[in-house]
Parts: sequence; C-alpha cells; structure tokens
Amino acid sequence: MTDILALSQVSVRFGAQPEPAVRNVSLTLNRGEIFGIVGESGSGKSTLANAVMSLLPTIAQTTGSISVNGREITHLDTAELRNLRGNEVAMIFQDASASLDPTWSVGDQIAETLRAHSRISLREAKAQAIQLMSEVGIPEPASRYSDAPHRLSGGQRQRIVIAAALANRPQLLIADEPTTALDVTIQAQVLQLIDTLRTAHGTTVLLITHDLGVVAQVCDRVGVMYRGELIEVAETTDLFSAPRHPYTRALLASNPAGAPRGSRLPVISDDWSVDRAAPDESLPETDGR
Ligand SMILES: Nc1ncnc2c1ncn2[C@@H]1O[C@H](COP(=O)(O)OP(=O)(O)OP(=O)(O)O)[C@@H](O)[C@H]1O
Ligand SMILES: [Mg+2]
Repeated sequence: MTDILALSQVSVRFGAQPEPAVRNVSLTLNRGEIFGIVGESGSGKSTLANAVMSLLPTIAQTTGSISVNGREITHLDTAELRNLRGNEVAMIFQDASASLDPTWSVGDQIAETLRAHSRISLREAKAQAIQLMSEVGIPEPASRYSDAPHRLSGGQRQRIVIAAALANRPQLLIADEPTTALDVTIQAQVLQLIDTLRTAHGTTVLLITHDLGVVAQVCDRVGVMYRGELIEVAETTDLFSAPRHPYTRALLASNPAGAPRGSRLPVISDDWSVDRAAPDESLPETDGR
C-alpha cells in the first residue's frame, strides 16, 4: 500500500526572508498512527501542516516533495486540491470559534461540508450531520443541530469542528493545536475523542502541540522541530526515555514531571540551556470555555 503521507526534503520560505520557515523536512507517516509534532513557537510546525494542506499564502515558496497516497500534491490545480481536502486530508485549526461561521447553525455547517464532497440530498446530509454530532459526543444532537456556534460551549464548538473535519472520512487528519484553547478536562476529552475516532476508522493523525503531556497521552511517534528542521523522530516512549538530540534533552529536562497542560515549551538557546524566565512565552490563562 502507498504511504498516506510522505515528505521528502520539504522546505518553505516566506518571501525574501533570509531563513526558511521549514528546512529539508523528510518524514513518512504510518497508516493509523498518531504522529505528534512538538517544538517551540516559530519552529515551523503550522507552516509544515499548511504546506501539506496546500494552504500557504502565495508568497511562500515550497520545494521538495509532498505526496499523499502516492500522489504528488505540490502541483495540483484548484479542483484537485478541493477534492484532496476533505476527502483525503482534513485539518482542525487551533481556534474553533474562528473556523465556524457565527451566523450559521452548527449542523448546517457540517451538512454543507458533506454536500461539498458527495451528491446527497439536504435531508440525507442533515441525518449524517446529526450522526456525526452524536459520534463526537454532542448531547441531543438533533436538537442542537440548529444552534448557532455561540450557543455551544468552547469544548462543544471544538467537537463540531472535529465533526466537520471528519465528515468525509479523511484518511489523514491534521490537528494543529486542537486543544490549546480548552481547559484541561476538556482537552483530555477531545484527545480521547481523536484517539477513539482513529481506532474506529483507521484515520492517520498528525497532531501538532506545544504540550509534551499531550504527546505522552496519545502519540505513537513524535517529531521534534527546531528552527524549521525536524531534528528528531522517535517512538514516544523512546523519546521520553532516551532522547537523542541535545535540544530534545533540554526540552525534556525543562519538563521533569511533565509540564502543566497548556504551558508553552521554554525557549532553549543554542548551547541547549533552558531559559525558564521567558515571561512572554506563557499562554494567558484559559477561561475554561
Ligand atoms: N504568512 C507568513 N508570512 C511570513 N512569515 C510567516 C508566515 N507564517 C509563518 N511565518 C514565519 O514562519 C516561521 C514559522 O512559523 P509557524 O507559524 O510555522 O510556527 P509554529 O511552530 O507553528 O509556531 P506556534 O507554536 O507559535 O504556532 C516563523 O518565523 C513565522 O514568522
Ligand atoms: Mg503554529
């Protein structure tokens, strides 16, 4: 079987920036695995994810090869990309509220995603959307179908975003910090949900996170990004027990008992010493929505 996702020497440079945001990344995902990508802010995690979705702005120059199900995607046209997104690859963005249209019912937004990719009636799309809402754990989905996003909690909105991403049963799900905006309990539930759906449907998941606790909870393997490079790839247990790269060691040393959920990775300088005192790196308190 062809690889679900194979990256070879992928680099991305924004405009005339001197340093590429992503540099020579090569990586092959195993079908059905949850692969975590960790790295400090600005290390290129989202740029890499957006490159796989072909969602980078036009000023970004991408080189190297990105292949999904054995097909090179860097040169697909708009129609081919539309087909790819949703059917083969779907993405969950960090901020659920921003990815939902505030003026439109949550159910219709899922139904629309379904109808964008398959010829089904409105009635059938609605039935499937309610089924998806139930699958992601929205209580009484039929009666919540017509609710606008603001009538749901933050955790429920993120579940709707996941339902929409999963609507067309993508083979690869890219989740860019899907739980960062959520409080600890809801984070754990959403991660559990992603894990359950992976098991039920064999979905491969590329999970981007700042949080080593999240990696430990759900990832089979993990890749560490540092200044645009993928400097280490390992089985999760090996990464925690025997990190190879000095940056990874510094990262783990700075999180002895597992950093609290939601905390940002510390800034680590070139000599791999940890700067714990970087106050502007900490996330604001979440409001638990
Ligand atoms: N649209 C853009 N135009 C110009 N530069 C960009 C753009 N998007 C990202 N960059 C740059 O690319 C680099 C990597 O950014 P990216 O968003 O991929 O980091 P990240 O690892 O996802 O960080 P975070 O953890 O904060 O989300 C940064 O230096 C950033 O300034
Ligand atoms: Mg990012």
